Amino acid sequence: MALIIDGNAVAAAVKDEVRDEVSRLAAAGVTPGLAVVLVGDDPASATYVAMKERDCAQAGVLTFDHHRPADISQDELNAIIDECNADPKVHGILVQMPLPKHLDAEEAVARIRPEKDVDGFHPASLGRLVRGVDGPRACTPWGVMRMLRHYGIELTGARAVVIGRSTIVGKPMALMLLEENATVTVCHSRTRDLPAVCREADVLIAAVGRAKMVTAEYVKPGAVVIDVGINRGEEGGLVGDVDYASVEPVASAITPVPGGVGPMTRAMLVANTVAAAAEAAGR
Ligand code: GUN
Repeated sequence: MALIIDGNAVAAAVKDEVRDEVSRLAAAGVTPGLAVVLVGDDPASATYVAMKERDCAQAGVLTFDHHRPADISQDELNAIIDECNADPKVHGILVQMPLPKHLDAEEAVARIRPEKDVDGFHPASLGRLVRGVDGPRACTPWGVMRMLRHYGIELTGARAVVIGRSTIVGKPMALMLLEENATVTVCHSRTRDLPAVCREADVLIAAVGRAKMVTAEYVKPGAVVIDVGINRGEEGGLVGDVDYASVEPVASAITPVPGGVGPMTRAMLVANTVAAAAEAAGR
């Protein structure tokens, strides 16, 4: 029987801390604000954004909604970012990914003022992570780190394997694990004998975006398994990258989907926004 890592419970603990910080800022006349830029009508993105906005509202963080049709131009997108960059009520800017194909996500992200980059995707933020300097960290891997810490999972000297090399999750995840002294391997679609590499992991992080790909064959008995995947299952519900039914009996701890990493991503976004507001106010 694996320990079920409860993302909702850890997210609640993060939100409690954030609420205290919001109260402290309120006493100084500061209300944290997040601009949310959503382009197009992808239903999954719309759902994630709605949940992020709800979490902000519950924490006392204002949101400024910029929902635009899928066919806006790069110039129009840039203009929204410029406006948010200049607005002192906006402490964080979230451009929901993925953007429609005709838009240049790199250009959009680089245009955000680094101090408002609450997603941690800006080249300056990623550079700070590489250099081990404080700064906004990407919310999903940062949330995973927080979960591991909450449960006292030892990383120093541990073998960590990350499946997936995205800029949003895989690459920053690997760097964060490295920062905590894990020995890190990053796997991807070209990795030879993926199950054998994954079986070396004390901590296995699945961030591939393929439903139930990680089966018991990938997991060393007693490993900690973190499932970052959010996929549509055959019956319509959400399923992770991990085949929970086969992996849970082998692992020592595992995150469920839903109720694992997802709530942590949103909690860290709120935390990053409040931290950006505090920084902007010099508090
Ligand atoms: N798309 C999937 N995850 C994320 C995230 O953490 N931030 C943004 N902006 N887009 C995403």
